[in-house]
Amino acid sequence: MDRRRARAGALILAAGAAAGAAAPLAFPLREARWTAPSALPRSLSYEPAECLRPPSSVANGRAVGIGRIAFRTPLLLGGQAARAGMSCATCHRNGRGNPDFVFPGLSGAPGTADVTASLMSSHRGDGIFNPKPIPDLAGPAERRKISRAAPGALETFIHGLVTEEFDGPEPPPEVLAALAAYVRALQPGSCHGRDRPIRLAERLAEVDAAIALARTSDGDTSRVLLAAARSTLGAIDERFAGVEADRAVLRDADAELGAIRLGQTGFTRWDMAWPAHRRRLRRDEHLSLYSAAKVAAALRTR
Ligand code: HEC
Repeated sequence: MDRRRARAGALILAAGAAAGAAAPLAFPLREARWTAPSALPRSLSYEPAECLRPPSSVANGRAVGIGRIAFRTPLLLGGQAARAGMSCATCHRNGRGNPDFVFPGLSGAPGTADVTASLMSSHRGDGIFNPKPIPDLAGPAERRKISRAAPGALETFIHGLVTEEFDGPEPPPEVLAALAAYVRALQPGSCHGRDRPIRLAERLAEVDAAIALARTSDGDTSRVLLAAARSTLGAIDERFAGVEADRAVLRDADAELGAIRLGQTGFTRWDMAWPAHRRRLRRDEHLSLYSAAKVAAALRTR
């Protein structure tokens, strides 16, 4: 076995071990793999409020929109993180922190992570286990590690995170700039309200936003956005575990986006079918794991 394959094998084993340690593999929601067991009922059904400043211009609104989607997609990261289904938003939930994050080999106390752990990276793994608290990216300016004002500082940091810490592929330049625009738009003055329920409507709005932006983006950016929409459908699918008719609808929608992404078809069929799919999913939301009561019941029986 060559070194790359040996590493991949080790990572898959680590992913299995990590999943097994946090929750049995059968539990459908991936977040359960990296959430402290005692926090599961709350953490799987509520998320912190996002602190997003209104856009300063049409161009800024577009960049922040693309960055917001990229921030939430596992595809941006590589290696073990992507395989486990993690994104920036896994640790920085809605751009905040994640006090309940626990991932064997990455975390010390809940809410910490070592982003130089060799588990995630073939580049930067420093062999020293050094987990740090996951910061709230909308925290006070004086606590920030990376300046939001210095030109290029965030871009350089995020590029290093994606390609070195997480072994991700080189992101398209527009997507990298958009991620930095999104992080810059997270501001303490824009924090309103406390934790809020995790809702299907918001995930569906993310799918719609990714598709709307993909239509007006070129090549690489468009492909990242369509892939992100597909991975959001995948996350919705997990929440519809056991509601098989709705999962079939999600599979069809995913296949359609896959064909669009490959340039095999345009948006005509999607535009015709998606509104009814959306309504159907909303109608059945109460049957899915978007219902806090269903999550609690599923956790009791696992
Ligand atoms: C596995 C958990 C994890 C993931 C995934 C993750 N981060 Fe972080 N992030 C951290 C931790 C921990 C720190 C603090 C590191 C330190 O103090 O040295 C941090 C620090 C940061 C900072 C600097 C803090 C500040 O406010 O200046 C930024 C910006 C940031 N992350 C953005 C991102 C982006 C963008 C992504 C996705 C590409 C990402 N993070 C993915 C855990 C994570």
